Formats: sequence, structure tokens, C-alpha cells
Amino acid sequence: MDRRRFLTLSTAVTGAMLLSQCSIPSQRPNRLLKSQSGQLSIDLAASPTAVNLVGMRSHLLAYNQQVPGPQLEVRPGDTVEIRFTNQLDTPSNLHFHGLHLPPTGEADNPLRMVAPGETALYRFTIPADHRAGTFWYHPHHHGNVASQVAGGLAGLLVVRGDLDEIPEIQAAQEAFLVLQDFDLNWRGQLQEPMPMFRMWGREGNHISINGQAPPTLPLPQSGLLRLRLLNASPSRVYRLQLKKHPWHLIATDGGALGEPVETDEVVLAPGERAELLVPGTREPGTYEIVNLPYDRGTMDMMSGRMGHGMMGSGRMAHSSAQAEPIQVARLTYQAGAAAVPLPKALILVESLPEPEISREFVLDHGIDAQTGQPFLINGQAFDHSRVDAQAKLGSVEDWWIINKAGLDHPFHLHTNSFQVISRDRKPEPYRAWRDVVNVRAYEVVQIRVPFRDFAGKTVFHCHVLDHEDQGMMGIVEIAA
Ligand code: C2O
Ligand code: CU
Ligand code: CU
Repeated sequence: MDRRRFLTLSTAVTGAMLLSQCSIPSQRPNRLLKSQSGQLSIDLAASPTAVNLVGMRSHLLAYNQQVPGPQLEVRPGDTVEIRFTNQLDTPSNLHFHGLHLPPTGEADNPLRMVAPGETALYRFTIPADHRAGTFWYHPHHHGNVASQVAGGLAGLLVVRGDLDEIPEIQAAQEAFLVLQDFDLNWRGQLQEPMPMFRMWGREGNHISINGQAPPTLPLPQSGLLRLRLLNASPSRVYRLQLKKHPWHLIATDGGALGEPVETDEVVLAPGERAELLVPGTREPGTYEIVNLPYDRGTMDMMSGRMGHGMMGSGRMAHSSAQAEPIQVARLTYQAGAAAVPLPKALILVESLPEPEISREFVLDHGIDAQTGQPFLINGQAFDHSRVDAQAKLGSVEDWWIINKAGLDHPFHLHTNSFQVISRDRKPEPYRAWRDVVNVRAYEVVQIRVPFRDFAGKTVFHCHVLDHEDQGMMGIVEIAA
């Protein structure tokens, strides 16, 4: 597939995209900010910034003028200090997605607001027993989340730990892939979605990988490549396949699995992460990772509400589901590396005790009596002053997430990771820590949550950020 095809998700915008593809050099690789002697102390500013995105001058929103933002790396026990300046013209804040931190004060507090022009200090310690994994940071001011993340505000936050010390994994070549999509006009300016696309959850007409065109990554012959993926798009679900080559899942959102699991497709809902090992054991050559079409339920809605015949045309097509596979990365065999086998065991994922309480959360569309918002949990839209569930610190609960709507709603919980127990009452095949689970249209998913270490109010919500902004969020208060 050529670059042009990749850059353009629909024929409607082809003309415009080609015009803008003169040879602007790509932005420089993203900066890595690593903790030193147990401390990470940085300044982070969110601002409108022009960057060269996939060869096109684009007017985005960026942390420290980079899209994605700088990659932060810490270890369990480290202290972190971030002086965050909001240079946007809308309120913002920082959320440390997937980290097990206090949801209060100057830590991972989603109810905090940093007004335009303000600087706020974020301060916390990574717990000494924190799991290693691929986490991320992004804005979380209710009502502004989708447009700010869609503008490019997102960055990796990596916790290094026991998983990284497994000898085979230590010897693996490592690559991070941050998947973002942007809805840009021919001038490279962000477009706000029409109300209907905001309802579905906006999808962009450009996909970038680490802010660039699809990379070519070296795959050590008879060695291992460790891929670490983040879906930082506001609504798009990626359905990834490595063509004609095996790959093995080794970690989900909350860290390592017990052992590698060979997979075919990797489906990443917004906010989700996955890590894979690719063993260099096939015929040397170049292999392609592609993103396959995925229907979140919008195809149905489109034909239901609009009739047929509009699918292939204009803005309708480019803001909706992609019709053909598109390239995300190429892996090229590289000779001369030492042989590394796949590790047999990874990190034990504990089995959680039976829950003390089971609750239901019904996700649906409607009209909230108070706010008029359309995306509801248990019949209500988000209200920052209401507590939707009271959990006891130290307890374990089962949450049944019941999707009564015809759209997927990726459910996300802050502060504590959970394990999926069943989907449509079918037991989950292996244990894994997650903080996002895609609850498909009309699906029922059972998750088990241990409430550990931190008391206070925290949130759960749909990670289609337009849905979160339009009401699909609630508060759980964890009481000591
Ligand atoms: Cu990544 Cu509350 O979100
Ligand atoms: Cu989060
Ligand atoms: Cu949703």
C-alpha cells in the first residue's frame, strides 16, 4: 500500500491531502524524560502548536510542543513532580491513565481544574509495589476531553519493573507505537465534528503513529521485538493484525500476563494498551501490521438513520468507519542479533477473592432529566456533586456493565485496575489486569475490582471521549 492511500481514508479528501504533501521533514523523535535517582521533576505545558504530522503542517494541541507528548519513564517507588501549565484557551488538567495513585489532592485528581493561563503542581509517589506497564497521560476536564485529546494531547507514561527484568524481555528490541487520529482540513487545521459525529464519537481522517507515517521497525532475526501499543485516539477502535507472522500478547493495560498468549488480532479500544512479542523465527523479509475495519455500531446507525447510499460520499464517509485495511507499521528482519527464545512465564496475575458486593451499571442512550445530556449510566448523566457508588477500601466488588445500546462503550475505571471475569456470561480465557474493557453493543461484561490503598472519590466512564463529555461518567467514592 502506498503512502498516499495510508494518509487518506476516503476519496472525498484525496485532493486536499495530496496538495499538502510537499516534503516537510517529520518532527524530531519524541523526547524521553526518565526519572533519575528516584525522581522525575518536569515542566509540562499544553499549547496550540504547529507540527509536521505525517508530512503535513498541522495545527494541533501539544504537550511541550510534541505530538504525542514526551514519554515519561519511572520506576516503582519514584516520586514525580509535574509543573503543568495550561496554555490552551479552555480549562484542562492532567490524568495519569492506569496508574494506581490517590485520586485526590495533587495526585491523580480528575475533578481538579487548571484554568487557561494557570500553572498547577502535580505530585505523587509511584507505589513501591506498582506493576510495570504501559500507561499514559492526557487531559481530563469534563466537557473538554474529546477535543483536547483529538488535538493531540496524550503521552506515554511507562513504569519499568519486574516485567522488564525478565531476561528474554530485557534482550528484546523495544518499540512504542502511539496510535492517534486527527480530523484535519486541507489547511492542516483541526475540525470540530458535526453534532452527529460527536454523538458517535469523532474519528479523524488521518492516522499517525508516534506523530508520523507508519514506521519500519527492525525485527531481530531469531531474536524478539517487543511492541508496546497505545490507542490514544478519542473514539477509534483499532483492530490490528500482523500479516503472515505470529505475535504473542504479553501485557494488557495493567501490566503483564502470566504467560505469552499467541493471538491473531489485537483489538484496542480508546485508552487501551497492549504489549506483544514478535519472534524473529520466520522467513526473513518484511511483514506488515495493518488496521482492519471495525464496526463500533456506527454502521448500523448510519444505515438506520440515513438510509443507504450515503456511505461512500463526502464527509459522511471520512468521519465514519474505515472501509479497507490500512498500514500501521512494517517489520523488517535484521540479521546479526543473538538468538532469544520466547519467555515461558511472565508475571503471575493473582486470582481475586469472591466479591463482597455486586453492582450493575447500565450504559444507554436517552435524555438526562437534569442536564439534557444523551449518554447515561443507570439512567443518569454525570454530575460532579453526586456519588453514584460507595465502595469500601480493601474490599473486592463485581461490576456488571450492561450495554443496552447499539454502540460499543469502552468502560474505564480510574485508580484501581480490574480483571474481566466474563463477557456475555462466557468466562474470560485468561487472567489479565485492565483498566479499559470494550463493552460491545448489547454486551454484558463482568469485571472484578479490588479497591486498594487509596480512599476518595474517583471516576468511571466511557472512553469514547465524546460520550464521556456528554454524560457517560460516574463517581465511585472509596471510603476507609
Ligand atoms: Cu484515559 Cu478517565 O481516562
Ligand atoms: Cu483513566
Ligand atoms: Cu461510549
